[in-house]
Amino acid sequence: MITDIKTYLHECAALVEKSLPEALPADWNIPQELRESMLYSLQAGGKRLRPALVLAAAEAVQGQAAAARHALPVACAIEYIHTYSLIHDDLPAMDNDDYRRGKLTNHKVFGEAMAILAGDALLTHAFHLIPKAARSGGVSAEVALDIVEDLAMLAGARGMVGGQAADMEGEQGITSIEELEYIHLHKTSDLIVFSVTAGGRIGGASTEQLEALRHYARNIGLAFQIQDDILDLIGDEKKLGKKTNSDVEQQKVTYPYLLGIEESKSQVKRLTREAKAAILEARLDAPDKLLLIADYLVQRDY
Ligand code: IPE
Ligand code: IPE
Ligand code: MG
Ligand code: MG
Ligand code: MG
Repeated sequence: MITDIKTYLHECAALVEKSLPEALPADWNIPQELRESMLYSLQAGGKRLRPALVLAAAEAVQGQAAAARHALPVACAIEYIHTYSLIHDDLPAMDNDDYRRGKLTNHKVFGEAMAILAGDALLTHAFHLIPKAARSGGVSAEVALDIVEDLAMLAGARGMVGGQAADMEGEQGITSIEELEYIHLHKTSDLIVFSVTAGGRIGGASTEQLEALRHYARNIGLAFQIQDDILDLIGDEKKLGKKTNSDVEQQKVTYPYLLGIEESKSQVKRLTREAKAAILEARLDAPDKLLLIADYLVQRDY
């Protein structure tokens, strides 16, 4: 089953990777260095987990793979946002990292100013892509409106940016698991919550189903970041495509720092169980892929 889900995730990644550069119109007059800097990070690889979750959630609710086709512009939009968040996260003023997705970080290649601007442009362009999902048919204008509203909330001050700000402020002083949970829920879960609920909305989810999808995404998102913290300590740099011990160098307080590796691993398992329980209660037409993705993430090593 895990091999099946790996194949599915590779297929999603291939679909998205073809669409990502196409999503930035070739005939727009953009300074060449800016375009190159945006495409450099967009095309550097990465797991493409968030777009896959958009596609898988749409399919889970509608019960047909066709739902995924309509969700593709939104899948690209979240990868634009995620990629921008990584470019900015790696900047010297933030985590000061030199490698990402197996390549030099954006600012190492294009300089800090262009890396900041590439991030700004990727963020902005995501909001250009969502109305496209409605204009190309398959997604109603009403659903596109809900998705834009969610994205602004979950990527912004109340969401990922808020989590990143708390992460920066808390670097040395955090002692409680509640504060750390706030950081992880916002810097990481919120974009995952966006991905799963946007897919669910496109598939036609009911209010109750959306709530269950939110619950699932919150938990796999938290588990995902705890696993990221574990891999920062014990992962393989080659597989990860980024340097390990970044958190130690930046004196971050992480789950393994507060709870130890073994307890952190059991938290990942507990959160995954709860995520799957939420999905099983939601009476979705085709929940299998969401369930398998949750299991796959527990044993990921990159
Ligand atoms: C890295 O995300 C940043 C976190 C929120 C932990 P991913 O591990 O999904 O990075 P890519 O997209 O695969 O490079
Ligand atoms: C990053 O968390 C979260 C976002 C980019 C929003 P980390 O700083 O732990 O991610 P990595 O380890 O650099 O990928
Ligand atoms: Mg960081
Ligand atoms: Mg980082
Ligand atoms: Mg990390």
